Amino acid sequence: MRILFLTHSFNSLTQRLYCELSQLGHQISIEFDITDSVSEEAVFLFKPDLILAPFLKRAIPESIWSRHLCLVVHPGIVGDRGPSALDWAIQNGAREWGVTVLQAEAEMDAGPVWASANFPLRQEKKSSIYRNETTEAVVQAVIVTVNRVNGGNFQPLRVAGQAHELMKQKDRAINWQTETSAVILAKLNAADGFPGIANELFGQPCHLFDAWPEAMLKGEPGSLLGYRETAICRATVDGALWIGHVKKPAGIKLPATQAFPEALALPELPLADYGKSAHATWQDIAYEEVAGVGFLSFEFYNGAMSTRQCQRLTAAFLWASSRPTRVIVLRGGRDFWSNGVHLNTIEAAESPSDESWANINAIDDLAEAILRCETQLTVAAVGGNTGAGGCFLARAADQVWVRDGVMLNPHYKNMGNLFGSEFWTYLLPPRVGDAGAQAIMRHRLPMTAQAAVRLGFYDSCLPGPGFTVDVARRAAELAGADDFAAQLAEKQAKRQADEAAKPLADYRAEELKEMRRNFYGFDPSYHVARYHFVTRTLHSWTPRHLARHRDLDWEITQ
Ligand code: COA
Repeated sequence: MRILFLTHSFNSLTQRLYCELSQLGHQISIEFDITDSVSEEAVFLFKPDLILAPFLKRAIPESIWSRHLCLVVHPGIVGDRGPSALDWAIQNGAREWGVTVLQAEAEMDAGPVWASANFPLRQEKKSSIYRNETTEAVVQAVIVTVNRVNGGNFQPLRVAGQAHELMKQKDRAINWQTETSAVILAKLNAADGFPGIANELFGQPCHLFDAWPEAMLKGEPGSLLGYRETAICRATVDGALWIGHVKKPAGIKLPATQAFPEALALPELPLADYGKSAHATWQDIAYEEVAGVGFLSFEFYNGAMSTRQCQRLTAAFLWASSRPTRVIVLRGGRDFWSNGVHLNTIEAAESPSDESWANINAIDDLAEAILRCETQLTVAAVGGNTGAGGCFLARAADQVWVRDGVMLNPHYKNMGNLFGSEFWTYLLPPRVGDAGAQAIMRHRLPMTAQAAVRLGFYDSCLPGPGFTVDVARRAAELAGADDFAAQLAEKQAKRQADEAAKPLADYRAEELKEMRRNFYGFDPSYHVARYHFVTRTLHSWTPRHLARHRDLDWEITQ
């Protein structure tokens, strides 16, 4: 079928549907929801069999839904209607939630139901639920829907519904003096990603994001107990919570201590070492060791890795490689493995060019430390979405095991034509060939975990459920393998041969020469793209590589 996506943006959910439906042989084209006339034009050009709205913030115009079959993905269970669906479910402590595919009609979310899928609702951040359970359920429900449309004789069901309002800040309000940690955490989780909760710190208004429970610290309710790296700890009536990120009025989302440097005058609350804390607390880098395997996790918000985070992670990796282990597993965070350098901290820096330079060098140092590790076999266990430099940082490990369902974006050009570094020129061509590497970089399209393994870019795609357990088992097998010594020797020999053929320093210097031009050259594209990315500027047009119906030869070839 010819399926037109009408969507607010090409977010990870839309990317996943794009890949899954393309793989099933459907022809997909995408138009961002900019104005009704642009959508109408896209429909006219593409002549779709079906219009799908995976992530829409406005209603589809009547001029379209009255003439074409339009199906809308609603992030709520059957009968749920209206905005903030997931926010209400999380804040109200629903045990089960789901998604529904509805036919667009005049009344929002009230059209007949084509398919739905439910899941148990974790008490977690909204952004995490959306990228995991919601996305999986949407894929399931949309594939059922497309098959039903294709079949031609399915009668969608009309159901009674309950409409709710847009959740406003007054519904989200938190009171540090009277509410428990659990209540405040549920509210912050329901607002995570967007819009956050309007509150204050140091007497200044700001929106709070990225909350973490704290099991040990206590204090006067509402008081600020201290800071750890980028997070601030605040007491509640029965304990405390950590706030990882904040957004000041007219500002961008930033690590809490960067937005409020006055936090550095509070008591510092460091953890004793890298060891994974036994109790709930804020810990961005954590290490565990089991049966000859070291597991290094890095829970960096949104997968963005600032200069300091890269430096701290490099130090942690070097420390881990000094341990008497045989395998190091780089686990990343729960929702993201890595999305490369931290564009928000770069944007907020006094000199974004200098900070870009420092950040790319710091992430390259990390990649180089992984590449030069001679004492262990290394595995990147990519359990969360990964983009740009993060995809190549993972490839620096000897093996990359990726969870089925993860979305990868192994390219840089969407960020103002960035050339990219992280040794991609060394790591990518041997895996996919020179032409393959150029194609991946040029096409700027997302890739599924399965496709990455099919191409030879990553090594294994492991099923979603049980990924963590599977990774631990496989890593233990690797550490216990009879030929472990031979594998390590082979790795060392390969590195030496590669170094003799062309030193890593040369790859790095060549990449950084291009990056220097991106950061300091006459063409400001990277700075402009980064500004629009971090300020979440609304799209004013759909990129040509997504809006295939706008290809000049579209009408001739169809
Ligand atoms: N630096 C800072 N923030 C980043 C980031 C980065 N490198 N990558 C993603 N984020 C943030 C986004 O701003 C967004 O923040 P918010 O929703 O909390 O406000 C959040 O992570 C999720 O990103 P989003 O784009 O909504 O997720 P997605 O899953 O739809 O898309 C990517 C994933 C990787 C395609 C997209 O985030 C991206 O292009 N990131 C930039 C990658 C990059 O160019 N890195 C620099 C070069 S190495």
